[in-house]
Amino acid sequence: MTKSKTKSKSGKSKGTSEASLRKAVVMAARTMSARGLSPGRSGNVSVRWRDGMLITPTALAYDAMKADDIVFVADDGTWSKSVRAPSSEWRFHQAAYRQRPDRHGVVHTHSLHATALACAHKPIPAFHYMVAVAGGRDIPCVPYATFGTEDLARHVAQGLSERDACLMANHGQIAIGSTLDAALELAFEVETLATQYVAVLGLDAVLILSDEEMADMVERFKSYGKNRDG
Ligand code: 13P
Repeated sequence: MTKSKTKSKSGKSKGTSEASLRKAVVMAARTMSARGLSPGRSGNVSVRWRDGMLITPTALAYDAMKADDIVFVADDGTWSKSVRAPSSEWRFHQAAYRQRPDRHGVVHTHSLHATALACAHKPIPAFHYMVAVAGGRDIPCVPYATFGTEDLARHVAQGLSERDACLMANHGQIAIGSTLDAALELAFEVETLATQYVAVLGLDAVLILSDEEMADMVERFKSYGKNRDG
């Protein structure tokens, strides 16, 4: 097992051994579930590891999930048959890592408002400046494809090519980050923005910020909070 230390987004040192990453995946999955972002057994979480990823197993209740249940899926899409089967969505996690080599964590949820917008095929436009935390002037909604398929993975790769989050039609949302913590935080933010946007749609008065303003916001978010402690 390789052991090393890196600085987390919060500035604290975090272990990056396989053991600590397995625990981090379980923690992230449980937090996602405890905060109501993934009804039932929906959703999945992964972190980049070696030439592949460590990912939550398919169809296992989050409360029962342990570090040993997390599955290593190699870049060629194989995993050890002696362990649990990986999330049925490992293909779009792999597509996200291939598309964005600078991103190291992936969180997928069926959170209520993001999923409602995805079912209406409505991307989230620049109704609020915080949309820029996903890296651009909107949070796109990629076309529908059956869960677990290469087609869905292709759509997700396209949706994440210039954004850190996208909606998936008739399905849910996916968020990526330079760390797993960052991906989780963004998934929460996407759900918050989706909740606000649904409320604004009810007012029938969506006022969109200009492309220029949003380009400025994207730049500001590149350095926002970089020196915060903890
Ligand atoms: P898994 O349990 O296979 O990860 O599937 C859950 C899900 O949300 C599929 O999109």
